[in-house]
Amino acid sequence: MLRSLLKSSLIPLLALSGNLFVPSSWASPLPRQSASWPYGPFEVSGAEMKDSRGETIVYAGTNWPGHGEVMIPDGLQYQSIETIVSKIKSLGMNAIRLTYAIQMIDQFYANGNKDTTVQQSFNTALGSTNGPKVYAKFLANNPSFNASTTRLDVFDAVAAECAKQQIHVHLDNHISRASWCCSTTDGNSWFGDNDYNVQNWARGLKFMADRGKSWTALTSMSLRNELRSPDNNPTLKSQSYNWRDWYTYSKQGSSAIHEANPDILIFLSGLDFDTWITPMFQGTAMTPGTTKYSAADFPGYANKLVLEVHNYNNDATSCSSLESSLYNNGFQAMHKEDAKTVTVFPVVLTEFGFAQTDAEWRRVYSTCIAGYLAKQKAGWFIWVVSGSYYIRSGTQDYEEAWGLLSHDWSTWRSQSYIDGGLKPLVKNTVKN
Ligand SMILES: *[C@@H]1O[C@H](CO)[C@@H](O)[C@H](O)[C@H]1NC(C)=O
Repeated sequence: MLRSLLKSSLIPLLALSGNLFVPSSWASPLPRQSASWPYGPFEVSGAEMKDSRGETIVYAGTNWPGHGEVMIPDGLQYQSIETIVSKIKSLGMNAIRLTYAIQMIDQFYANGNKDTTVQQSFNTALGSTNGPKVYAKFLANNPSFNASTTRLDVFDAVAAECAKQQIHVHLDNHISRASWCCSTTDGNSWFGDNDYNVQNWARGLKFMADRGKSWTALTSMSLRNELRSPDNNPTLKSQSYNWRDWYTYSKQGSSAIHEANPDILIFLSGLDFDTWITPMFQGTAMTPGTTKYSAADFPGYANKLVLEVHNYNNDATSCSSLESSLYNNGFQAMHKEDAKTVTVFPVVLTEFGFAQTDAEWRRVYSTCIAGYLAKQKAGWFIWVVSGSYYIRSGTQDYEEAWGLLSHDWSTWRSQSYIDGGLKPLVKNTVKN
């Protein structure tokens, strides 16, 4: 979620049993092929994501944050996992973008390879007065959990429920140090920033990719949400914030995921809050270096790469300008007929969103993006399902005016958007 100065005016600030693993050769460790949903492993063919049957998969879904200070998916003090997934399913959606913080994995290692319990995590994040209260509500709504339940157990349970309801999980590393994201001065902006240790990041990707092998619903992972200029770190900014280093780290992160889990797609996200990723498809140099994108740099898994972009031009007044911007900064990658497209990739709009009022969704931004996604046959995740967060920017039980759901995650915030905007968008993009 973008929180830049530029945009601040716009933003009020397991089911393994169904799977049959069919090795087609005894000699090499081939990816698992599942004879049931989700028919993995997925791969990329031109501008499309495909399942193992060759069917096109277009994600139509919502973001579900789990990267805040509590480090578990939000909303569980108000509703059960099953209820939230059912609500998402009722929209016709087929995917969630589930976010996590690298800090969760750092703490696992620091704690002798043991994850922190949810109970302890609530206390640490919300304090000894509110922590136990919110934890009690979490247990009341999710009675299968108990005092020994860890944060990763909760992620496992969300993934298992998604498998049950056939919702794909796209797992997104949103930030390193768990907190609301993102600004250019939050220490998490760029590889090597104060709270963004590169080795810990790569270790965290590998850890979650490995963990996700037991999640039937997991079909893709991202490298990192909204890379951005480290503005309070001038040396890092001048020496490293560029496409050359971006490419180096993107190779490192992709390799970490692929080695741990060869079955899933890998999403690459661009610069300036993931608003553009043109060198990947225009075949231009990764400046200030001269290297260009090459499939050979992703040996054996170039067919797993998907590009993601975000857009928050909420005050757009011209749909044609908004469309041009989306095209030039990312979606051109889906157009091999464009002479300037050197390599074709699928592109997914992994974030866009707006205040959930009955008026806002009728404006240019929302209607234009909906029309554009349908024309492109491109996947998307709206920001955000959350009616509220456990804590955001220091405020507990933070009200999310952009949330599809109400504060207690019980009803839709704008039924007119759900019926008039969102359900039609799902129908016009999703293929299954
Ligand atoms: C506690 O919850 C975990 C899952 O979080 C589960 O594996 C375990 O069986 C539960 N223990 C009891 C005693 O119910």
